[in-house]
Amino acid sequence: MSDLHEKLLETTRYLREQGVVEVDVALILGSGLGELAEEIEKATIIKYDGIPNFPVSTVQGHAGQLVYGELSGKKVLAMQGRFHFYEGYPMSSVTFPVRVFASLGVESLIVTNAAGGVGEHFTPGDLMLITDHMNFMGTNPLIGPNDEKIGVRFPDMSQAYDAEYGEIAQAVAKELSIELQKGVYMGLTGPTYETPAEIRMARVLGASAVGMSTVPEVIVGVHSGLRVLGISCITNLAAGMQSSLNHEEVVETTERVKEDFKALVRKIIGRL
Ligand code: HPA
Repeated sequence: MSDLHEKLLETTRYLREQGVVEVDVALILGSGLGELAEEIEKATIIKYDGIPNFPVSTVQGHAGQLVYGELSGKKVLAMQGRFHFYEGYPMSSVTFPVRVFASLGVESLIVTNAAGGVGEHFTPGDLMLITDHMNFMGTNPLIGPNDEKIGVRFPDMSQAYDAEYGEIAQAVAKELSIELQKGVYMGLTGPTYETPAEIRMARVLGASAVGMSTVPEVIVGVHSGLRVLGISCITNLAAGMQSSLNHEEVVETTERVKEDFKALVRKIIGRL
């Protein structure tokens, strides 16, 4: 048995002991977007630092716990806070929770993040359906031996973001009168924000938004056969499009739009 396989068995056994028996939808809640987990009913909270093989979250604004329970009639397992490559975790740790979701039998994964808007048409506070991504992290979480029991050596990324889920998200947004932009997310390592020159590059290449997460988790999600929906909260205009960038603005914007974000994701979950 591979190391990864053994770890997954140990972690899933622990989570099952905590009552995580059935999961319809897994959620990764990005910077400032973790509040949705507070709406989960019959909630069981499982701190990351008690979960075997889980890394421990360090960034501010991240609670560092799993919340399991019911939302919109579905059994959900939410990550309040994720592991970023820029924190120094290896890609295997950044994506380990997604492997755990797949081992638990999860079929649907919703990933969310705060992102900088590259498209000229964005206003901070916009929500964006991720239709595709560009991996600009300079590495790939699948580098290394491949466990054929989990997925294929060369995963097809043609439909990384599930088209049907995207349609559901757009329909739900319309019903709620929430404007939902759509576009391509470019993932960079951070922790610096980009330079204006890098943002011009991103725009020329066709990116709509830039951020420091999501891409590794989605790659591993696709590798494990999960159906993925991605939503970005455009917290700021990207570098060079406004005078300066800072984390406080990111947090302020997520705070401002969190009610729309929560309503949208809550209702989408009910439709998956
Ligand atoms: N760049 C990268 N990551 C981000 C940004 C940004 O402008 N805003 C929020 N996360």
